[in-house]
Formats: sequence, structure tokens, C-alpha cells
Amino acid sequence: MPESRLRSDEIPRHVAIIMDGNGRWAEQRGISRLEGHREGLGRVRDIVRAANELGIQYLTLYAFSLENWNRPKLEVDGLMRLLSEYLDAEIDEVDRNGIQLRTIGRTERLPISVQRAVDGAIERTKNNDQMKLVFALSYGGRAEIVDAARKLLRDAERGEIDPDHVDEKTFGAYLYDPELPDPDLLIRTGAEYRVSNFLLWQIAYTEIHTTHVMWPEFEKANLVEAIIDYQERERRYGKTSAQLRGES
Ligand code: FPP
Repeated sequence: MPESRLRSDEIPRHVAIIMDGNGRWAEQRGISRLEGHREGLGRVRDIVRAANELGIQYLTLYAFSLENWNRPKLEVDGLMRLLSEYLDAEIDEVDRNGIQLRTIGRTERLPISVQRAVDGAIERTKNNDQMKLVFALSYGGRAEIVDAARKLLRDAERGEIDPDHVDEKTFGAYLYDPELPDPDLLIRTGAEYRVSNFLLWQIAYTEIHTTHVMWPEFEKANLVEAIIDYQERERRYGKTSAQLRGES
């Protein structure tokens, strides 16, 4: 049982996941891509529950990228419907478990009914103090940096910020959710080895775990496996191993 190898005092604080492989999983079974996404939604429900049980404090899920707007309308509409369904069906349990819902992305592009459902769920869970569940919706990492630069430049124009004093910390405060710590662990399912424009600013020192498991088959045991893999790494932040051991 992999869970027995997990060190519970070293659970990554922030786990981010690129949930990939719904389409290929469906195609392998001769069913529609949308049915793959529907199965994937079931894993969202399971993994949110599992992450909270494991004591993860922040879970960020790449649910819909800016690039995903270019998919066929039927698929985009289906994904929007699934998001609404998730909120309808799961918000009671999410709230009961003390989970706080947040979003990052250009959410103003979402259909108004989806925006309302998302806003309602954010409002309802805003005082919860267990895991923060962050949905990246209509999200792109470069767009986030551009949006942050725009806000910063506006403040500079108004004289509220001095360009000479802009550093990484100041800039980070202009990102979509400045309260989010950088992810410790990024998981990508579906046998792809790309970052796909996800959290570009925030993953500078994040450990990356990839797996061949397609998202519709990703279970708690796979999450535990990814965390064990993370726990076996040495995070050096540019230093040497000897420095980390305090030897030099
Ligand atoms: C990647 O699969 C996944 C997505 C585009 C979105 C993730 C969506 C879900 C997990 C289900 C819906 C959940 C919410 C909250 C909306 P892919 O279609 O890129 O897979 P492929 O690479 O095999 O084609």
C-alpha cells in the first residue's frame, strides 16, 4: 500500500495538476471526447476529496485553458456544462469539508451563467479554512503575466508605484491570486511532458511529476505515488547538496 510510504509531516503545501488525457482515454474506448471529460470530472471529485484528506493546503487544477477556447464549440459548451454540474453537485460537500473555492484566469470570458455559479460558490465558501481549491479557468500563464504587467503599469502611471522599486515580490502581488504560494509539486497526467502555459511565473522551483495514467483513471493511489516521488527529491533552490547539509 503506497500510503504507508508517505511521510505525513512532509506533505507538499501546494499541489497543481494538469489533468490531461480525457480525450485519448475516450478515443481508446470508442466513446466521445465529452464522455472522457465526464469521467474526468469524476476524478476531480475524488482527487479534491483525497487531497483534503492528505492535508494538502492548496490544490490548483487546470480545468480550462485560454487555448481550450479554440476547441470545437460542442466540446467547449460541454466543458462549461460539466463545470456547472460540478458546482451544483459538489458544492455542499466541498463546503461541509471546509474547502474554500477560488479561481485564477480570465474568468470574465466564461458564459454569464457559469460566472454566476462560480461566484456563488466562491462567496459561499469564502470563510472556509481547510484546503483551498483553485480552479484555473480560461487561464494562460503568459496572459497572467501580461495582465499583471498591465495592472502594474496603470498603478505606475498614477504614481502609485515607483518602477525602480519593482522587484519579484511586488510583481507577484499583481498576479491573479497573490495569496497563492508557489506550487511545491506539479503533476501532469496523460503521458505528456509539457508545461502547457500553466502557472509559468509560479513554477520556477516546482518539482514536476509526470505519469502515463490518463486523467480519467487517476486515483488517490496515483496522487500518493506522486507525493512519495516528490518526497524523495532534494530541493536545492540553486544551492549544492553540501550547503543544504550545512557542510559549507
Ligand atoms: C485535458 O484532456 C483536459 C481538459 C481540456 C480539461 C480538464 C477537464 C476535466 C478534468 C473535466 C471537466 C472538469 C471541469 C472542472 C470543467 P484532453 O481533452 O486534452 O485530452 P487529450 O490530450 O487526450 O485529448
